[in-house]
Amino acid sequence: MNGDANTISDAFLPAEKKLQKESHTVLVTGGAGYLGSRLCALLLECGYKVIIYDCFLWGITPILPFLGHPNLSVIKGDVCDETQMKAVLPLCDTIVHLAAIVGYPACVKEPELAVEVNELATKKIARNLKPWQQLIFASTGSCYGAVKGTCTEETPLVPLSLYGKTKAESEKCVLGFGGVALRMATLFGVSFRMRLDLLVNDLTYQAIEKGELNLYQGWFRRTFLHVKDAARAFLFAIRNYDSMKGEAFNVGCNELNLTKREVVQKIQQKIPDFTFTEEQTDKDQDKRDYEVSYNKLRKLGFRARESLDSGIEELVQILPLFSEADVRICKNV
Ligand SMILES: NC(=O)c1ccc[n+]([C@@H]2O[C@H](COP(=O)([O-])OP(=O)(O)OC[C@H]3O[C@@H](n4cnc5c(N)ncnc54)[C@H](O)[C@@H]3O)[C@@H](O)[C@H]2O)c1
Repeated sequence: MNGDANTISDAFLPAEKKLQKESHTVLVTGGAGYLGSRLCALLLECGYKVIIYDCFLWGITPILPFLGHPNLSVIKGDVCDETQMKAVLPLCDTIVHLAAIVGYPACVKEPELAVEVNELATKKIARNLKPWQQLIFASTGSCYGAVKGTCTEETPLVPLSLYGKTKAESEKCVLGFGGVALRMATLFGVSFRMRLDLLVNDLTYQAIEKGELNLYQGWFRRTFLHVKDAARAFLFAIRNYDSMKGEAFNVGCNELNLTKREVVQKIQQKIPDFTFTEEQTDKDQDKRDYEVSYNKLRKLGFRARESLDSGIEELVQILPLFSEADVRICKNV
């Protein structure tokens, strides 16, 4: 990851190189995060002008690979700061709103901040946008709560965690504005900012580090998507906004609806010495145990490209290189 912007793009974005160049400014809140840094690299590669707006909770390292790109501007700011947001919003054609306190543990730790950032900031953004501007929001499958059977976009949102509740409230406001809400599966894979608190990344890390694992709720069904495919979904939404506006879409891959046990078994195929046992306790406050249909977005033409196997393979290559300090920051502690 030490090369120049072209080297990085070549390494991470080969399939996108043929995409048409466009002149269009995209403001990405949370652009220095796990998903945001991948998305910004992709947008720059595709010829968009990009403004990253981020308070850099995880530092600026994730955007160093493309800092200095002629189409990139970077603003350090808080999405809750309406005065600053009001000054920045007129600069863009599209706002991709990713900035958030992400995941239920982080939201439980700082509940007031979670509501401020995840819910109230979205309302501030929506009320300051012009009707011609595009608003694309990073939502989550956590909005569904515990669902029996398969979730479609018609399934009622009954979020169980504060994280899911704040995201569901935000979505309402985005859809009220006429924007697009992308309800993503749990992401996995390598990005410029790494996260080890995501299920596949975490389980792979534990398999490498400890060689054994005590799995709880192994029968729970979860749904996954590579972070590169998530970035492609946002690009897809920018390009197909007119046929998506005012609606929510599940973003993932039908083939990546898997039980936690199936994920661990896939990891075992890549790390043969790794063993696991199963525990029957009910630890996960999010209680996500569901299957999700991704047919609505698929009908419009979006398909994920990355497999779980390839994602685990890349994790197996890089995770042994992580120091304790790397791990601490990637676990968001
Ligand atoms: N990663 C996943 O599996 C996943 C799944 C579904 C939805 N999402 C959503 O995607 C988005 C991005 O998630 P991520 O995994 O990249 O998380 P992340 O924590 O890596 O990125 C979040 C970014 O937002 C920034 N941020 C936080 N508070 C801010 C504030 N007040 N003002 C400005 N910037 C702020 C952080 O500095 C960080 O760069 C989030 O909205 C999340 O809810 C993620």
